[in-house]
Amino acid sequence: MKIITDPLELKEYLKEVAKEHTIGFVPTMGALHEGHTSLIKRAKNENDFVVVSIFVNPTQFLKGEDLEKYPRRDEADKKICTLSGVDVLFFPQASDMYGDDEVSLQAPHVRGYILEGTTRPGHFNGVLTVVMKLLNIVSPTRAYFGKKDAQQLNLITLMAKQLFMSAEIVAVDTVRESDGLARSSRNVYLTSAERQEALKISASLYMASKMVAQKSLDSHAITSKMREILEPLEVAYVEVVSRDFVPLQEVQIGNSIILVEAKVGSTRLLDNIWI
Ligand code: PAF
Repeated sequence: MKIITDPLELKEYLKEVAKEHTIGFVPTMGALHEGHTSLIKRAKNENDFVVVSIFVNPTQFLKGEDLEKYPRRDEADKKICTLSGVDVLFFPQASDMYGDDEVSLQAPHVRGYILEGTTRPGHFNGVLTVVMKLLNIVSPTRAYFGKKDAQQLNLITLMAKQLFMSAEIVAVDTVRESDGLARSSRNVYLTSAERQEALKISASLYMASKMVAQKSLDSHAITSKMREILEPLEVAYVEVVSRDFVPLQEVQIGNSIILVEAKVGSTRLLDNIWI
């Protein structure tokens, strides 16, 4: 596996690769887990050549968030990438990615400022800006993102479409632990008691899917029941939205996502199910 830290060197290198190969790209912030390896596996299955980036992007963290203590596992991550058959690992520093007087992207005023955008105003500006930079550096055939970060995935898909970008954005299913907890780099912050509490999140979604299976489609009824299960966690939101992130009064089968964000101890966790 080749490791490249310089964006322009990577861009030049991949220009040659792209002449004869399809390129699959998996952008990450490191602390790789099975959620990431499932993205890499999918990228390997669907492309000739796979690039992974590891970059803890400072612009998507708000003041007071966990940028400094965000888990960094550089050596373990390199090993995981090598063992997963990654061809190139892109490992830039913030100074390689950002200058002083930056052009940046604004997330859309509605979709970028609801749900996760309410609890983290401005977060998606940073996400879109860095993903745009990464996609311009790598110019992949396909780029892979997890459904767990559903709003991020929606905004990146929208950006790729509205800015006429050529990469296909591929959505990949959430990977869960055997007890239902969605894999997340932030799970390492949880104590064992908190981890147990965190299971209320997937349990609430499981209940929601059961209600839908029993044809109970009213969003308020579903989210109220979920909130009962989530007690006493500090819930930021429980919402039913369409795949385009428009709030729904009633679940539409095939076009809905039920989302939760809740704090367990001091750790914010996200999860959702696509219905
Ligand atoms: O989902 C993530 O890990 C990050 O938000 C991403 C897409 C790599 C951008 O920094």
